[in-house]
Amino acid sequence: MANQPAKFSPRVFSGIQPSGQLHLGNYLGAIKRWVTMQEEDFETLFCVVDLHAITVWQDPDHLTHAIRELTAALIASGISPEKSILFNQSMVHEHAELAWIFNCVARVGWMDRMTQWKDKAGKNAEKQSLGLYAYPALMAADILIYHATHVPVGDDQKQHVELTRDIAAKFNHDYKVDFFPMTTPVIEGPGMRVMNLRDGTRKMSKSGESDMERINMTDDAETIARKFKRSRTDAEPLPSEAAGLKDRPEAKNLVDIYSALADVGVDQVLAEYGGQGWGTFKPALAELAVSKIAPISDEMARMMADPGEIDNQLRKGAARASAIAAPILARTYEIVGLVR
Ligand code: TRP
Repeated sequence: MANQPAKFSPRVFSGIQPSGQLHLGNYLGAIKRWVTMQEEDFETLFCVVDLHAITVWQDPDHLTHAIRELTAALIASGISPEKSILFNQSMVHEHAELAWIFNCVARVGWMDRMTQWKDKAGKNAEKQSLGLYAYPALMAADILIYHATHVPVGDDQKQHVELTRDIAAKFNHDYKVDFFPMTTPVIEGPGMRVMNLRDGTRKMSKSGESDMERINMTDDAETIARKFKRSRTDAEPLPSEAAGLKDRPEAKNLVDIYSALADVGVDQVLAEYGGQGWGTFKPALAELAVSKIAPISDEMARMMADPGEIDNQLRKGAARASAIAAPILARTYEIVGLVR
């Protein structure tokens, strides 16, 4: 926080999209570290970014379900609606309003340079929604409407947090204020990058063609065991040291997953399993995964039986979020010169 004026107290914001299947990669890569940050000396805000989800078409009933299911997953994984502020983005209208201001601050050239946009839009940029293009400005608004100082994100979102800093700096400069903080992306941490079970060089994702590529948080024990059993590996046994995982992406991924689920170091996993074959390791991994995932999916199912209660939790979180966001938006409008 050395580069931060004292007026910005440590505040964590992060978001996750309610689209597609929630999988082990989301849990180990994002949610688990959010829970860790919640226990530290930060004020924490966690947001189900439904307005980001609709930058590509979402079936309305499916979207409603996905928002609730993700909320249930976050709570079931240990995000406390009391300790943290947990809400969905569309319930706090200040996000969208600040995003408009930022659309007028950010430059078209900045958006053109976003690698995620280039990857997603590809050759079909003309057919994408304007929202998908402007998505990083909304993300900047998510963060800056709370003057958030720290944003835990995966590597793929780092560029968007850097853009957030550029937007904050240009706003501060253009209006001669020191109003928005320079947010720090938090890339390191207990989180990890979980790879695809069929191809250890690709990230586990909700949009992969085959369901066998990922472990969904709603998979039952049998499915989890089958997916690990059929997961791609090489013919070598497990090495006894981490260095032996070099150039073995699939092997490394399974060991990393074990290590993250068990909360022990890779060396410790290999001390136990080094020299053993996959026929021993995969069932052990499956059993460990089931023991961690089943309580979460059971709790999710219990919560999903009462969607009204989930919505209540989101509303309460949104009211707390608005209490922070409203004065910041009001001051922003004043700085810009809008008559209120
Ligand atoms: N763009 C992020 C993703 O796809 C989600 C997100 C939206 C986000 N707003 C955010 C993450 C603000 C961190 C902070 O993963």
